[in-house]
Amino acid sequence: MQTLPGFRDFYPEDCARRDYITAVWRKVARRYGFVEYDGPVLEGLDLYRKKNSGGEILSQLFNFTDKGEREVALRPEMTPTLVRMVAAKESHYKKPLKWFSIASFFRYEKPQKGRSREFLQLNCDLLGEGNQAADAEMIALMVDTLRAFGFTEKDVVLRLSDRNAWTEFLREKTGGDASLAEFLQIIDKLERESDESLHEKLGTVGVTLPDVRDFIANGKPSFLTALMADLEARGLSAFVEVDLTIVRGLAYYTGLVFEVFDRSKKLRAVAGGGRYDRLLSDLSDGSVNLPAIGFGMGDVVLGSLIDQVPAAAEAMKAALLLASASEVYVVIADEARRPEALGIVQHLRNAGRRVDFPLVASKVGKQFQNAEQSGAKVAVVIGNEWPVIKLKHLSTRTEETISLEALADRITDLIK
Ligand code: HAM
Repeated sequence: MQTLPGFRDFYPEDCARRDYITAVWRKVARRYGFVEYDGPVLEGLDLYRKKNSGGEILSQLFNFTDKGEREVALRPEMTPTLVRMVAAKESHYKKPLKWFSIASFFRYEKPQKGRSREFLQLNCDLLGEGNQAADAEMIALMVDTLRAFGFTEKDVVLRLSDRNAWTEFLREKTGGDASLAEFLQIIDKLERESDESLHEKLGTVGVTLPDVRDFIANGKPSFLTALMADLEARGLSAFVEVDLTIVRGLAYYTGLVFEVFDRSKKLRAVAGGGRYDRLLSDLSDGSVNLPAIGFGMGDVVLGSLIDQVPAAAEAMKAALLLASASEVYVVIADEARRPEALGIVQHLRNAGRRVDFPLVASKVGKQFQNAEQSGAKVAVVIGNEWPVIKLKHLSTRTEETISLEALADRITDLIK
């Protein structure tokens, strides 16, 4: 009785990690004025097949025929759904749209480090603004999301590139761009293939490997230089490098593209995105025409990176401890006082505190042990002194006595 390959169970500790990651994602997206949306997990297959994502993703679809004879697929990415949704209600919204979503995706990939068949992504997209200020804003959002996990420019790098630079390169070398899609697929795999196979493949589109390498080393698109200046003004440029080997596997990108990697190069891309200025028009048969830019950040590679970077791992550990701990433990020192203790538990929970207490009669020493393990800062001891209540500060082991009326306010003071 195991999960299917590439699928995950989420035990409480895994849920806690997932909640931490999604809370950070949400916090930073909202800081940039993005609003949350979602779409269906299942879509018509044509959304991907006809006007679609393109490239490798099509061979990785989880698709089937439903009981109503519809060809359907589990969503492999958010962008086609987002574009479909925006095209349907475009006139309802003030531009630019700044939308984010946190959702599960499904791709039938070979499960391996950094690749599963179900994963979570943060998607942030800005639609209706085609200028460079929008590009810089999206890159800053991506960098700030990484910074919020505790990563510095020593841990991660955002590699910027421009597909248009490659289009011009191809035109210059071959006199046309008919083989652009094929050419970009070759560039996308540049770092993973042998020189021999690259020579052969590039030959079919009329380009040489030395010319490609020379362009990567020396090509400096002026458009990217201006973008870097914007990021410099924000103090974020140390996270960003121009790297023309990035072209992205998805078919719909039209210009700027970018990916985030760990500096140690141990992991796959943490995130990727770019401009897709024609997808809305393509998907709506020309009726809606909005420039767009966005990115997706996955939880699987991000999770490995958090584990790999001590500052990020510590930040997560501290946040998890804070989120899971009880604040108050009610010790029932005299079992005859259980009804009064239950009243106190309820009183404190009504006041918004996270409260734990023993469900069965147990020795006071054992209860204090449980109190400490629960992470509580304060133990409220109900015993034969009732109606006087004893408060024990668990970190300093000091004590005070207090009345029921003053209890909730005193605890708020102690815990904040
Ligand atoms: P993508 O590069 O296909 O872009 O995915 C973005 C991120 O999702 C990757 O960098 C990776 O962290 C994660 N990811 C993708 N596939 C898997 C997998 N099989 N297992 C684990 N993690 C995975 C897109 O999806 C675009 N739709 C992003 C975008 C939004 N572009 C514009 N707007």
